[in-house]
Amino acid sequence: MDKPTILITGGAGFIGSALCRYLVQNSLARVVNLDALTYAANLSSLSVLDGCDDYFFEEGNVCDAEKVDELLEKYKPDGVIHLAAESHVDRSISGAQTFVQTNIVGTSILLDRSLEYWKKLDEEKSERFKFHLVSTDEVYGSLGAEGLFSEETAYDPSSPYSASKAAADHLAMAWYRTYGFPVVISNCSNNYGPYQFPEKLIPLIMLNALHHKKLPIYGDGSNVRDWLHVDDHVKALWMIWDEARIGEKYNVGGGNERTNHEVVLKICSVLDELTDSAPEGGYKSLIEFVIDRPGHDSRYAIDASKLEFELGWEAEENFESGIRSTVSWYLANESWWKPIIEDKYSGERLGL
Ligand code: NAD
Ligand code: DAU
Repeated sequence: MDKPTILITGGAGFIGSALCRYLVQNSLARVVNLDALTYAANLSSLSVLDGCDDYFFEEGNVCDAEKVDELLEKYKPDGVIHLAAESHVDRSISGAQTFVQTNIVGTSILLDRSLEYWKKLDEEKSERFKFHLVSTDEVYGSLGAEGLFSEETAYDPSSPYSASKAAADHLAMAWYRTYGFPVVISNCSNNYGPYQFPEKLIPLIMLNALHHKKLPIYGDGSNVRDWLHVDDHVKALWMIWDEARIGEKYNVGGGNERTNHEVVLKICSVLDELTDSAPEGGYKSLIEFVIDRPGHDSRYAIDASKLEFELGWEAEENFESGIRSTVSWYLANESWWKPIIEDKYSGERLGL
């Protein structure tokens, strides 16, 4: 079978750019990256792909049906991996409408146009085609002290962001049940790694620390997230597009549960070790407990056994070494993050 052509949406963001790099650099697919270049996008995350024959960038919005039609016609993809989204919970609290537009309306338009394209494919290409919606564990809401999210956990989203992602999941599953459109959905836990926009906890804490600014922990810091290195996520995304059963959902997670306080302390201790510019008392002396996020989910934890048993996926990175390599990456790549904090976002509190 020839190398497939995949339409990736949101490929200039954190996870999307890691996926583009993985697929092209490992010669797994020809990639067409459709991205609207919102504040969260960064084409410099993709500069290693400049000049690659298997990589094509197209600026455009998933809400633009004509643009989507044009790209489907032009590149004739063998599948879609849909990551384009507004992705930050705090921004969704400050303003929900862009989340409704991109995450719900945009997904419905992409589903519609892809369905029309798929209907016209010949039998071989039609059987190979898959529409993979990249979703989040936040659709399940919050766990108590015990238990894990499984694929059967009922949806119970808390924030405008997670509600918009839940709506997108329901739309995709409806396209499968109603039209027989070959959809698959993955629901992943919190990602971290290189090239993450510094509005999310781990890069925000790192960059604030390097600038000797306060390290804001929401509430009492006891909220738990299940952390997964982005490179493990993109391997799962590819396996799911390539091998998963259509009409199915797969949870993705690394089994690395940590409280937010533990995560921040870990970053501080790695920075104490790797830099010679720690403030007196170490970086942890910068920690400040601040007013909680409204509707703050207390715990996420993933049961990824379906993905592990069915497709043989396994997380390769553990949290300790993953955080260390991520901190080292940010220390070595100031040229990537400096323009962001100077021109786009410098760490002010969002979502109150
Ligand atoms: P991100 O915010 O870093 O990137 C999103 C990308 O989508 C950006 O490049 C942006 O320009 C693009 N985009 C936004 N609106 C668009 C539109 N209307 N049309 C075309 N492009 C548009 O996000 P991320 O953290 O890389 O997340 C990617 C996907 O993975 C999202 O769907 C998110 O819900 C999901 N997800 C993220 C995590 C996480 O921890 N970051 C975990 C699980 C699932
Ligand atoms: O679980 C998957 C989700 O993980 C993805 O779907 C989202 O796109 C992604 O943003 C992430 O959502 P979170 O809200 O969990 O991530 P965030 O990095 O914003 O926050 C992680 C935790 O840290 C959360 O409990 C809130 C807390 N936090 C966050 C920030 C930015 C702080 O304590 N201080 C902060 O400054």
